[in-house]
Amino acid sequence: MKRVWIDTDMGFDDLAAVLTVAQTPGWRIDGLSLVAGNAPLEVVIDNALRAAAYFGWDFPIHAGCARPLAGELVTAQNILGADAMGSAGRSLPPARAALADVDAVGALGCYLAAAGEPAALLALGPLTNIATLLRQRPELAARIAPLMWMGGSAGPGNHTAAAEFNAAVDPEAINAVLDAGVPLQMVGLDACRQVRVHAADADALRALGTDKAEVLADLLLGYVRIASSDGSLPMALYDPSAAAALVAPEGMRFRPAHVVAECQGEHTRGMTVVEWRVPRRATANALVASVADEALLRRVVLDALAQAARAA
Ligand code: RIB
Ligand code: CA
Repeated sequence: MKRVWIDTDMGFDDLAAVLTVAQTPGWRIDGLSLVAGNAPLEVVIDNALRAAAYFGWDFPIHAGCARPLAGELVTAQNILGADAMGSAGRSLPPARAALADVDAVGALGCYLAAAGEPAALLALGPLTNIATLLRQRPELAARIAPLMWMGGSAGPGNHTAAAEFNAAVDPEAINAVLDAGVPLQMVGLDACRQVRVHAADADALRALGTDKAEVLADLLLGYVRIASSDGSLPMALYDPSAAAALVAPEGMRFRPAHVVAECQGEHTRGMTVVEWRVPRRATANALVASVADEALLRRVVLDALAQAARAA
């Protein structure tokens, strides 16, 4: 059984990413740590606990950092809606699972220290929790292998022209993680934009006819409508592409590169500067996703959502 800890700012694409891992045979989620990003932490917690109750998740869920390492929290609620789960109809039912007593940074530290071998982390939001842990316990960087992160971009941003959202929220955290020597696998916007989801994919989910199929179809259609209000255009699959790259590594090609996050630029704060010309121009400090197998990654994600929809 392959095991992974997931760190997330629980919007819909995060939910789809967690379900992708949860529904892939041979994989086990050992814990979920929550971080402010898509929405304030209390909204992220509510989304995660409602998802856990609805999908019957049995792994512990821990609340983490409510603000980035520096500056104030910037959320994506202007795009995703107040609950960061914009829907074309139904939402997650209100019933909530219980939050674990231990905070995320403490729980992740214990998990990594106790792991018999270096553990896989899947990060789907700003890297605040992981950076905070590594500032306290830098020796734990050697207990992470790999850190698969949906974030950054080797090309244009989405939150700003230069910065991808997760990177924009906490660029200092990216540099802290890189400086700690964590084996980062960065799945940026340029790779995610090669994997698209369509309104027709929501229709196919809905046709399964279960209550969960209806909720997931409405949430997926709400996500697709981020790209175009009438759902006529496809939408990039962000977090699920990173999850699929973890469980189906043949679906995503990575190349070594040097990555650093811009923290000072008036117009470029949060930009991940990717230098591909390694080792001539710089020393590689990360693997950056470059080419995605759209058909394979789509199938991994959409099959997982269908499985989740069919689950009793
Ligand atoms: O830029 C996309 C990322 O920002 C995704 O992780 C999405 O959930 C938001 O957090
Ligand atoms: Ca996310």
